[in-house]
Amino acid sequence: MAFPRQRLRRLRQHGALREMVRETRLSPKNLVFPLFVVEGEGQRQPIPSMPGQFRWSIDLLVEEVAEVRALGIPAVILFGIPDRKDERGSSAYDPNGIIQRAVRAVKDQVPEVMLITDVCIDEYTSHGHCGIVREGHILNDETLECLRRMARTHAEAGVDMVAPSDMMDGRVGAIRDELDQAGFHEIPIMAYSAKYASSLYAPFREAAYSSPAFGDRRSYQMDPANAREALQEVALDVEEGADIVMVKPALPYLDIIRRVRDEVALPLAAYQVSGEYSLIKAAAERGWIQEEAVMLETLTAIKRAGADLILTYFAKDAARLLGERG
Ligand code: PBG
Repeated sequence: MAFPRQRLRRLRQHGALREMVRETRLSPKNLVFPLFVVEGEGQRQPIPSMPGQFRWSIDLLVEEVAEVRALGIPAVILFGIPDRKDERGSSAYDPNGIIQRAVRAVKDQVPEVMLITDVCIDEYTSHGHCGIVREGHILNDETLECLRRMARTHAEAGVDMVAPSDMMDGRVGAIRDELDQAGFHEIPIMAYSAKYASSLYAPFREAAYSSPAFGDRRSYQMDPANAREALQEVALDVEEGADIVMVKPALPYLDIIRRVRDEVALPLAAYQVSGEYSLIKAAAERGWIQEEAVMLETLTAIKRAGADLILTYFAKDAARLLGERG
């Protein structure tokens, strides 16, 4: 019997020693900051259910991205909120659409940022679904055509990486083909591979006005009860040419992050989604938890579970804190 020779508390007595033996280190370099873009000028619209987050018009977005970059965060991911929505989400692949213009402006003025765009038509469709709808069904293969065009117009505008989030079958392969045919072989795809039909996207949908007008997203997003299926989704995306795979949401799905990490050699991203952010914000506003401590604990846990990259609305706050702590 080792006790009392082995006392694990010995290494916990001194702060400096704790730092030396720490297994997981969080850095601003791991983080990606999501941003919402709207039409207009001088717009910085607060999102009520996501305190501290805003919808930005392109002029102010550019300044915000520069600030994010100055905090040591390498990447941002953009979500477009168009003025015009229709059945087919056609403003998603308009060469002069909100995201295409935002990409041009950001790459022109903050070229050093890794600029990622979300590729999914739900913010652009009048019914709010991530695919073309016929008789109440979300059509898979017809939707792929929209996704191809959306990704290509983002590439033509100068985006650095595209991130399909719709969960249609075959979208990674379709987008890869389209980008390659158009000469964009060097633009990577970060696939939202295991994206669950989560209740934690509600604040995002308020922010992006993208709640489905009928039904829900369970015919395309994954059942939260399934884990093996996530591995299949990831394997298919890898086969289709994904460069980075993602699990989403993050904290309630740490087991999935770990399983994917153990099976796949590609970089793994995790998305700490809007509802995860809002839960922490709301409890902290009531004084029930300490915001900064919970933020760092959750981000560390997501990284410990195996995520290399974390998409999080806390990116700026975390980078500031990590910067201060060195
Ligand atoms: C779809 C998309 C969603 C999120 C990212 N991409 C919403 C959805 O699937 O309904 C949610 C992100 C979040 O909640 O922070 N374009």
